[in-house]
Amino acid sequence: MTRMLMIGPPGSGKGTQTERISSTLGIVAISTGDIFRHNVAAATRLGREAKKYMDAGEFVPDHVTNSMVRNRLNEADVQDGFILDGYPRTSGQVDYLDGILSEQGNSLDVVLRLDAADDELVRRLLLRATTDGRTDDNEAVIRRRLDLFHTQTEQVIARYSGRRTVARVNGVGDVDDVFDRVLHAISAVDAPV
Ligand code: AP5
Ligand code: MG
Repeated sequence: MTRMLMIGPPGSGKGTQTERISSTLGIVAISTGDIFRHNVAAATRLGREAKKYMDAGEFVPDHVTNSMVRNRLNEADVQDGFILDGYPRTSGQVDYLDGILSEQGNSLDVVLRLDAADDELVRRLLLRATTDGRTDDNEAVIRRRLDLFHTQTEQVIARYSGRRTVARVNGVGDVDDVFDRVLHAISAVDAPV
């Protein structure tokens, strides 16, 4: 069970839990948000393109995100597995990922959905705004990120649920307790999507 998706609203703990899964189970983590932020920091062409969308809480256009993910999934270190944090989040990205996986003769083993109420998400991200300095952690942009989750990424979850049950994990509580739930959910899934 090595090809996983981590899906959840902004602030639900995707990054936090993905890092733990990665270090505990030895699976390579791929976060589209982190790749974009590295490119912004390095002032690459991709970073300059992505920044204007990220700062507004909008999705980076699918054609940009998809080709970045395709390149990453062709690298040697992920041929035996990966956990994708924050991709796919549009229906077009689901189609694109399906295409990559079928070309490779691979399939997904588990789709994890992390849940938390909007009020809790806003609280966490405003708290992070006081320490981390992410340019998209201000209330207006957080609200836009949440809107996009509800209007677009919930459809992504519905599509995976239609194929097979998505493992749903309550993301509220102590980070260690959430991680125990994540491990339990992973171990409960045993057939390809
Ligand atoms: P991305 O970086 O993925 O941001 P996001 O989805 O808004 O989510 P966050 O990273 O803010 O939250 P998280 O769920 O990872 O939670 P975390 O563990 O950090 O994407 C950023 C932007 O990039 C997008 O807006 C878009 O522009 C672009 N982008 C990325 N992917 C894209 C795609 N596929 N298509 C198009 N555009 C894309 O935790 C959050 C905070 O809560 C932290 O401070 C953490 O310490 C705390 N926390 C974690 N767990 C708990 C807990 N259990 N209790 C209390 N606090 C907790
Ligand atoms: Mg994250």
